[in-house]
Amino acid sequence: MKKDNLEVLFDEEAIAKRVDALAKEITMDYQGKDLLVIAILKGSFIFAADLVRQIDLPLEMDFMAAKSYGDNTHPGEVRIVKDLDKPIEGRHILIVEDILDTGQTLNALYKLLNVRGAASIRTCTFLDKPARRNTDFYADYKGYEIPDYFVVGYGLDYSEKYRNLPYVAKLSFE
Ligand code: IMP
Ligand code: MG
Repeated sequence: MKKDNLEVLFDEEAIAKRVDALAKEITMDYQGKDLLVIAILKGSFIFAADLVRQIDLPLEMDFMAAKSYGDNTHPGEVRIVKDLDKPIEGRHILIVEDILDTGQTLNALYKLLNVRGAASIRTCTFLDKPARRNTDFYADYKGYEIPDYFVVGYGLDYSEKYRNLPYVAKLSFE
């Protein structure tokens, strides 16, 4: 029988320290600015919840959900499944994502928010897989760079499973 194998890469304690450091950086960078944090669902829900609780600034939150086609018929095409509640004109935006892989999702979301007239847009990704990038997109803040592994936990899924793991693990199949 096929079995999923999990190998822990970042445990709860390591993640908490890293998230705290990111939040401190963001707190310094956004002093005096009116910050709107946009969490991209579903993958970033745990990271965003931990991150914003460590950001020592008044801020607002909104949520977006996007689906990339993941096939070669519409490369780079990203569909908005849930849009923001309010206009973002003139707002300082921080997009929070679970993982930056090819970069297509964040690239598309960035462009979309940019045409809506945000005052500034930065991105914060928990994980970054630079090996698979096929856009020139990079994140302003990142938790960890990882090799080309498939990872789950801390919000990240495989077929909607494993999001609730408190750690990040490499998933392999045997
Ligand atoms: P991108 O558009 O290729 O950068 O895709 C990013 C999205 O792909 C993420 O928001 C995840 O939903 C998904 N993804 C990419 N790599 C992984 C992984 O290793 N585990 C779980 N989801 C992943
Ligand atoms: Mg995702």
